[in-house]
Amino acid sequence: MSRRRNYSRITRGLRFHLTFSYALFFSVLLIGIAWLFRERLASSLDDQVHAVLDQEWAAMKGYLRIERDGPHWYYDEHDPDESFIVERLRRVYLLADSKGKMIQASTDYQNLGIDSTADIKAALARALAGYQRDASKETFWTVRRDTRGAPYLIRAGIVFDEGHHAPFYVAIGTPLTNNFNIMREFTLACVGVILAALPLGLFFGWFTAGRALEPVLAVAQTAQRISGSNLSLRIPTRKANDELDYLILTFNRMIERLEASFQQMKQFTADVSHELRTPITGIRGQLEVALFTAKTTDHYKEAIINALQDIDRLSQLVRALLMLSQAESGQLALQKGRLDLSGVVRNSVEQFQVLAEAEGVHLSAEVPPACSADLDRVQIERMLTNLLSNAIKFTPQGGSVRVTLNTTAEGVELAVDDTGRGIAKEYLPHIFDRFYRVPGAGSAPGPDQGLGLGLSFVSWIVKAHHGSIDVESTPGRGTRFTIHLPVDREQPNPVEPPVPIMNEL
Ligand SMILES: Nc1ncnc2c1ncn2[C@@H]1O[C@H](COP(=O)(O)OP(=O)(O)O)[C@@H](O)[C@H]1O
Ligand SMILES: [Mg+2]
Repeated sequence: MSRRRNYSRITRGLRFHLTFSYALFFSVLLIGIAWLFRERLASSLDDQVHAVLDQEWAAMKGYLRIERDGPHWYYDEHDPDESFIVERLRRVYLLADSKGKMIQASTDYQNLGIDSTADIKAALARALAGYQRDASKETFWTVRRDTRGAPYLIRAGIVFDEGHHAPFYVAIGTPLTNNFNIMREFTLACVGVILAALPLGLFFGWFTAGRALEPVLAVAQTAQRISGSNLSLRIPTRKANDELDYLILTFNRMIERLEASFQQMKQFTADVSHELRTPITGIRGQLEVALFTAKTTDHYKEAIINALQDIDRLSQLVRALLMLSQAESGQLALQKGRLDLSGVVRNSVEQFQVLAEAEGVHLSAEVPPACSADLDRVQIERMLTNLLSNAIKFTPQGGSVRVTLNTTAEGVELAVDDTGRGIAKEYLPHIFDRFYRVPGAGSAPGPDQGLGLGLSFVSWIVKAHHGSIDVESTPGRGTRFTIHLPVDREQPNPVEPPVPIMNEL
C-alpha cells in the first residue's frame, strides 16, 4: 500500500516537473519575443517623432525672422496650410536672447516650465561651441513633462538674427502622449497575452506530460501486480514505436525471461521430486519385502545390496543436483589453465577402454600429437566422460566409438562418433534438458539407467568455455556430437573450486 503511494508520488513529481519546465520555457520565450518587439516599436516611434521635429525645425527656420525690432513670423495668413503649419510650430515654442532672457513662449511651453536664464546661457554656449565645429550639431533634445505630467519631446538650438549678429535660443516641441499611449497599450496587450497563455501552457503541459507518463505508470502498476503466480502478465505496447514502447518491450521481455526461468525452476523441482521418489520407493519396497518374506541370510543380503544400489543412485543424484545448482548460480566457476587437450582426450579414452571391451564396443581416438588450449581440466574431463559413457552405453555390441580432435581457425573441434542406436529427430531438441532421457529402449528405471543429467552438464561446460555443441544423429545408424571450443580466450579466474568429480557427471 505504502509502496503504491510512493509510486504515484514519484510520477506526479515527474509530471509536475515536466509541466513546470514547459510553462517556464514558454513564458521566457513569450516574454523575450514581447520585449524584442517592444524595443523595436519604441525605437521606430522615437525615430518618427525625431524626424517630425527635425522637419518642424527646418520649417521654423523658414518662417521665423529675428530682426532689430524683434522676431517676426513670415507666412501667408490667407493660406490655411501655412497658417496651420505655423500654428503648430508655435504651439510648443520658446525664444530667448543670447543673455538668456525669454522673448516669446507659448502657453504649452510655459506649462513645461521656462528654462532658467542660466540654463539657457549654458545651453547657448554649448550649442555655439557645437555649431562652430559642425553646423548640424547645435541641437539639444530633451523630454519634459508639463504640469499634468504629459511628456513632450523638445528640440532646442540656436538661430541667428538677420545679419548674423547674435545667436538666439529657440526650442520647439511636440507631445509624446500618443507614443506613450501606444507603448502602454502594446505592453498591456503583451502582458495580457502572456497571462492568458500561461494557464493555457500549464494546462497543455500538464495534459501532455500526463499522456506521456501514462505508459510509465502502466508499467509500474503492472510490475506491482506481478508475482510468481502471474508472470504471464504483459503490458500492451502502444504501437507508437517510441522510447516508451521500447521500455515496455524491454520490460515484457524481462518478464518473459523471468517466466521462463521460473517455469524451468518449477519443472526442475517437479523432476527432482520425481527422481528422488523412485529410488526411495525402491529402497522401501526392497526392505519391506525382505522384512516380511526373507528367510535366509542370502535373501537379506540381496535386499541390502539392492537397497545400497538405490542409495548410491540417490547420493549420486543429490551430488549431481548440488553441482547443477552451483553451476546455474554461477558459483561453479572455471579454473582455466594451459591444457594439453590431446593428452586429456587420450587419457579419457584409455580409461574407457575396459568398459568398452566389456560392452563389446570398439573404442578409438584420433588426436594430433599436441594441441594445447586454455581450458578447465576438470570440466573438460567431465565433459569427455559424459560423452564417452553415453556413446558406449547406447552402442550395441560390435559397434564402434571414435573420438577425433582437430584444430580449426577459431579453436579446437572435438567429435565423438558412435554407431549406436541414434536419437530420433523429435527427441534431439530435448537431450540437453535436465532429467531428459529419450523414451523407449533402456528407459525403464533401473540401476543402469542414467539420471538424464549428463548432457545438461556437457552443455553447461561447453557454454562456460564460450564454445558450441552440435549433434547429428540417424536412428539405428549412430550419433555424432561435435564440440567447438575457442582457444586462448581470456577469462577471469574465480577462486570457487568445483565439487569433487564423480565417475559420471
Ligand atoms: N550417444 C548417444 N546415442 C544415443 N542416444 C544418446 C546418446 N547420448 C545421449 N543420448 C540420449 O540422450 C539422453 C540424455 O543423455 P544424458 O543427459 O547423458 O542422460 P543419461 O545418460 O543419464 O540417460 C539419453 O537418455 C539418451 O537417450
Ligand atoms: Mg549420460
